[in-house]
Amino acid sequence: MDTKVIFALKDMDEATKEGAKLLQMGEIVVFPTETVYGLGANALNENAVAKIFTAKGRPQDNPLIVHLSGKDKLNTVAKDISPTAKKLIDAFAPGAISFILNKKEEIASNVTCGLDSVAIRIPSNIIAKNLLLRANLPVAAPSANISGRPSPTLAKHAYEDLCGKVPLIIDGGRCDIGLESTVVDVRGDVPVILRPGKVTAQDIEKIAGKVDIGSKTKEIISPGTKYKHYAPKADVFVFYETKKELEKLKAMYYSGKKTVVLCSQDYKKEFEGYNTILLGESTEAEYSLYKALRDADEQNYQVILFYLQDAMGVAVENRILKADKRGEKN
Ligand code: TXA
Ligand code: MG
Repeated sequence: MDTKVIFALKDMDEATKEGAKLLQMGEIVVFPTETVYGLGANALNENAVAKIFTAKGRPQDNPLIVHLSGKDKLNTVAKDISPTAKKLIDAFAPGAISFILNKKEEIASNVTCGLDSVAIRIPSNIIAKNLLLRANLPVAAPSANISGRPSPTLAKHAYEDLCGKVPLIIDGGRCDIGLESTVVDVRGDVPVILRPGKVTAQDIEKIAGKVDIGSKTKEIISPGTKYKHYAPKADVFVFYETKKELEKLKAMYYSGKKTVVLCSQDYKKEFEGYNTILLGESTEAEYSLYKALRDADEQNYQVILFYLQDAMGVAVENRILKADKRGEKN
């Protein structure tokens, strides 16, 4: 299959018109969101959704997030939305958060892998919103990478993974956030965080009064979190912000394999003379994380030593521990 790329920043009309037409025809389309690029299909059409699983090589028991153009569409896909859920949706949507709600029958069963719940997200990215409005459909979309690879934060990442497998990639430039949405189950009295993200537990607690940090960083609750995720081709080893770990990391650098240290800008000096890929300020690491992992692969590094700091936050920690070579148990 030929893969066409349209630059939405030049011609949003053409990009979203073409994308919407393909979605309505039951095809799959790569599109930008503010978190990461998504691989979308009509969530009401089981055959279309099946193409997502095939293109990504995604396990059949890992459900997809359904994307909507606006809050006015919520009742077409979800039911029994509680007052707490409503408050959270009002506070954070559109944005980088997915809400687990009770699903309506209309959603194709392979979107939710047979569950009676569905994850719903209303993206704020203007290209995504335009595409969803034009398609006038709920769009199921996981991240647009081959399963297990880091999520794409540039169209070229999606192209590397899915070229020849999708008819269209809409290029919307670099994703503003760079990490997947927070996933929060809002069916019960207390919201439960299944995957940490930009919207934090504290943000949710402020609105709902309570929050359950269900996943801590390692526990398995969301079906997708049990899979090894986010991993580049190089072997990743995570180290922590202590003097001893820093020495260990420097010693490991001379393993005989082509090795690079990934660390925040703040540690640039510590690693003078080493190969490094810098992640910007430690508090902004999420923006660069996936790009840095893919850049390391592109530069043929065999080993990535990742220097993890508390300031990078829970979401970065969650993702990078899943990429760790020793991480089958993570
Ligand atoms: O930012 C994002 O969330 C991106 C963009 C494209 O929207 N999407 C994304 O999708 O990261 P994906 O498929 O890579 O991750 C979806 C996560 C998985 O961990 C999945 O198991 C969980 O959401 N999930 C989906 N439906 C669920 C459900 N009904 N119950 C529990 N977890 C669910
Ligand atoms: Mg994913």
